[in-house]
Amino acid sequence: MSRRMNNILVIGATGQIGSELTPALREKYGQDSVIATYYTTKSGGDLGEGPLEELDIMDKKATARIIDQYDIDSVFNLAAILSAKGEENPAEAFRVNVIGFFQLLQLGLKFDLNRIIIPSSIGVFGPEVPSENAPNETVLRPTSMYGVTKVTGELLGNYYYNKFGLDVRGLRLPGIVSSKTLPGGGTTDYAVEVFYEAIRKGHYTSFVREDTTLPLMYMPDCIKSLIDLAEADLEALDHHCDFNVSSMSFTAGDLARKIEEIIPEFTYDFQPDERQEIADSWPNSMDDTPAREEWGWEPSYDLDAMAKDMIEKLKVKLGENAS
Ligand code: NAD
Ligand code: SER
Repeated sequence: MSRRMNNILVIGATGQIGSELTPALREKYGQDSVIATYYTTKSGGDLGEGPLEELDIMDKKATARIIDQYDIDSVFNLAAILSAKGEENPAEAFRVNVIGFFQLLQLGLKFDLNRIIIPSSIGVFGPEVPSENAPNETVLRPTSMYGVTKVTGELLGNYYYNKFGLDVRGLRLPGIVSSKTLPGGGTTDYAVEVFYEAIRKGHYTSFVREDTTLPLMYMPDCIKSLIDLAEADLEALDHHCDFNVSSMSFTAGDLARKIEEIIPEFTYDFQPDERQEIADSWPNSMDDTPAREEWGWEPSYDLDAMAKDMIEKLKVKLGENAS
């Protein structure tokens, strides 16, 4: 049986995913039961009401102090250096994504935590994997430092579950598209930037080729996947830290044309940079059968629904500049 999540810590709560996961958890579990932490970037107060602390995940004593002070039993660890930033500073990516997470696992045992949830990523895959419907079980030889750290995170989490019974769970998220907080330096950032630039400037120059196809997901589905996996019955799980979760796949060209359907004056072109190599090493789509079978994963949004919602939300957010 899964142990209950009562007092939840969100590390890296002001990032792209945390800024939407935190209010969703607060809505569900109560504002004082969800403790948000930020690192260098404090939120403008849009995480919902509730405790907010500064925390560097590398500071093990400070992490332990917060777990103890708030009687934390469950942790969503969103602290990470993403793929593009990870290539700029591989040592920092290794430090935060691997050492920071390893220290958290050690604290998980020390404090007998009920649950640790970690997003993994399409970044675990490398060029040898079948590009269409990359299987859940396949060779994992990523070519980016981000991917190396994400595979290591999955293996560490599975090891702590198998060896010590610590309930660690994780899923391989596609690139996430959202309107609230800009992405933090990944390869799939083009799929968010294109919406902002279409509304602000009417033009976007994509840093990946027109034919680049990647798995992507809209934020409401991402939040649902994280919470559904966290709440799944432990006994139903054969996998733990390495679930593929799929939603939609399309080319950068398809995305631009979809936006053009809604904003006819939008223009775009493609000037690939160094991030193209990372995008080319990732599959076009993933097979997520284990997630569907073991905890009932099912996405809600397709490209049409996402593009419409993104444009509506960003027009409100970006105010007068929006047409
Ligand atoms: P993000 O870059 O927006 O947020 C990451 C957060 O980590 C930031 O708020 C940053 O301040 C924080 N952080 C960095 N160093 C830290 C440290 N030393 N101590 C504490 N916090 C630190 O990223 P995100 O998109 O919100 O990603 C969250 C998780 O989801 C990551 O594990 C990422 O790999 C994974 N993921 C994201 C996507 C995506 O498209 N956004 C896709 C797949 C997986
Ligand atoms: N969006 C993430 C990145 O591009 C995928 O994990 O780094």
